Amino acid sequence: MEIARIGIIGAGQMGNGIAHVMALAEYDVLITDISQEALDRALEAITANMSRQVGRGKISEATMTAAMDRISTTLALADLGRTDLVIEAATERESVKQAIFEDLVPHLKPDTILTSNTSSISITRLASRTDRPEKFMGFHFMNPVPVMQLVELIRGIATDAETFAACKAVVDRLGKTAASAEDFPAFIVNRILMPMINEAVYTLYEGVGSVRSIDESLKLGANHPMGPLELADFIGLDTCLAIMNVLHDGLADTKYRPCPLLTKYVEAGWLGRKTQRGFYDYRGDVPVPTR
Ligand code: CAA
Repeated sequence: MEIARIGIIGAGQMGNGIAHVMALAEYDVLITDISQEALDRALEAITANMSRQVGRGKISEATMTAAMDRISTTLALADLGRTDLVIEAATERESVKQAIFEDLVPHLKPDTILTSNTSSISITRLASRTDRPEKFMGFHFMNPVPVMQLVELIRGIATDAETFAACKAVVDRLGKTAASAEDFPAFIVNRILMPMINEAVYTLYEGVGSVRSIDESLKLGANHPMGPLELADFIGLDTCLAIMNVLHDGLADTKYRPCPLLTKYVEAGWLGRKTQRGFYDYRGDVPVPTR
């Protein structure tokens, strides 16, 4: 099927990044959120990120103008009924996602493909709450979306071959690479990445190293672009904890036990960059380790 119009639910960091790359790939994009402020902030973020790409000679001014013209916003979820592919990128909470799908489904065209950018929740279970499990799948981007090359595509138990092929064609048109992952807790990237981040927090908790020495070790000793604690702050400590809980509950193995220190940071509301404090404090000119 021909995909021309893409609906994005959620105007946060992932939603605006997805809108950014879709508009540059010449798709018409409609973003929805429950907050007008969030929609306005998303347009500002996309403008700033595309301007940076213009500044670095990656795209032309004309390309940016044309891409921005393809993006519109709405507060009405029902407006997404006109789109060919919907990517849900709302809060990483199953009850929130299910409520959104229940509200959206009555407005959708019969052939609209419905996807979720979930980083860990069961695609099969989300699909089962919709009227179209065969046209439902996981479409998982990495952060920052305009920079990261990978998209994980996750089939639920009922996803049909046409739906997978249509989503794969979208990833190809974005110039990104699709990795096909089976629908088991946290798929591929987070199944491997999150236990590493959780282990870094244990390493801190047990006093083996400081925030700075742990991050330097992985940057200089394993050539990671960011240290694991810096990366955790970048992803959001609440998201990291939620994914560890999905692994722990879904695979019932104690090796996925979330580190108590990670839980404590989340309880404190120190969620990383988005709250200006996590393993680093971002309120000054340079990030300062909090331990
Ligand atoms: N939009 C557009 N471009 C962006 C951008 C954005 N939001 N953020 C960064 N960039 C671009 C910059 O313009 C720059 O472009 P050039 O190469 O043309 O100069 C390039 O990215 C590098 O950026 P910076 O020079 O500012 O910074 P850096 O070299 O330190 O790189 C980084 C930043 C790309 C984020 C790098 O540190 C990195 O790759 N970090 C690891 C990120 C990662 O692992 N992401 C996956 C997280 S896991 C996930 O997302 C899955 C999940 O479900 C939780």
